[in-house]
Amino acid sequence: MLQTRASQLSTLIEPMVGKHNTQTLESEKAKIIRSTLEKVEHTDKSLRSVIKHTQHFIKDLTTKKDQIMQTQKELLKLSKTVISEVISGKEFANMSASNFRHHYETTAIAISRTLFMLTQQSTIQVKCQAEADKIQTNENTILQNLDSAEYITNVVKETMRLYPPTPFAARLVQETAIVGGYELPKNSTLLYPIFSIHQNKKYWENSCEFIPERFSKQTIYPLSYCPFGLGERVCPGSHLAWVEIKIILILLLKNFTFTLSTPISESFIWTKDDILLKIRKRTF
Ligand code: HEM
Repeated sequence: MLQTRASQLSTLIEPMVGKHNTQTLESEKAKIIRSTLEKVEHTDKSLRSVIKHTQHFIKDLTTKKDQIMQTQKELLKLSKTVISEVISGKEFANMSASNFRHHYETTAIAISRTLFMLTQQSTIQVKCQAEADKIQTNENTILQNLDSAEYITNVVKETMRLYPPTPFAARLVQETAIVGGYELPKNSTLLYPIFSIHQNKKYWENSCEFIPERFSKQTIYPLSYCPFGLGERVCPGSHLAWVEIKIILILLLKNFTFTLSTPISESFIWTKDDILLKIRKRTF
C-alpha cells in the first residue's frame, strides 16, 4: 500500500523535478523553501518601508492641513475686522451699490450715445448695419464673432472719445508733487479729465469731429485715449463692457433703424434733455 503511494507520488513529481533520488529531492526542496523565504523577507522589508513612507506622508498632510485651517481662520478674522472697523456695513453697501450702478450706467451711456451719434450720420449707421448683418448671432458663435465687428467698435471708440461715459477719474495725492509746473499738495484730490485728454489737439487731428475711421488709420498716442481710466486703478470691467456693448449694438442694428425723435440741446459733455429715439423695424 505504502509502496503504491510512493510510486504514485514520484510519478507526480517526476515531470516537475526530473528523476532524482530522495536525497537530491530533499535538498532541491530546501533550496526552493530558502529562496521563497528570502523573497518573503525582501517583500516584507519593502512593505515596511512603504508603510513608513505613507505614515510620514500622512503626518505631513495633517500638519499642512492644520496650517491651512489656521491661515483660513486668521484671514476670516482679518476680513471681519476690515469690514467692521475699516468700512462700516453702510459704507460696504454703498460701495457695492455704486459699483453696480457704475457697471450698468457707464455701459448704457456708451450704447445710447453711440445710437445718438448714428442718428446724426445716416451713412455711418448704414455701414454699421451692413457689418452687423454679416455677423452670426446665435448663442454658440456670437462671442467668437465679436472681433469681426471692427467698424462698429471704431464707432463706439469714437463716441467714447467725444463723450466718455466717465468724464473724469480721481486720485488722492499721497506726496506733494510738481506736475507740469503745478504743485499738487499732499492729501489733495486730483481729478484727471478724460474728456479733455480725448480732445487735446496735440494728439487728435480735427479733434471735435466724429471720425470713427481714425481708430484704424491714425496713430493713437499712448495715454491720449483712456475711456476706462489709466494706471493701477484702470477699470477692471472694460472687457465685460466691450462684450456687452458689441452684442447689444449688433443685435439692435441687425433689426432696427434709429432716428432722433426730438432735437436735443447739448450742454457740455452730457445732454440737458433725455435722448429720445424713434426705432423702426428694418424690412429686408
Ligand atoms: C463703457 C463702460 C465703462 C466705462 C467707460 C468705465 C470707466 C471707468 C473709469 C474711467 C474708471 C476709473 C479708472 C481710474 O480711476 O483710473 C472705472 C473704474 C471702475 N470700473 Fe469701470 N467702466 C465701464 C464699465 C465697467 C463695468 C462693466 C464694470 C464691472 C463689471 C466696471 C467696474 C469698475 C470698477 C470696479 C472700477 C473701480 C476700479 C478701482 O478703483 O480700482 N466698469 N471705470
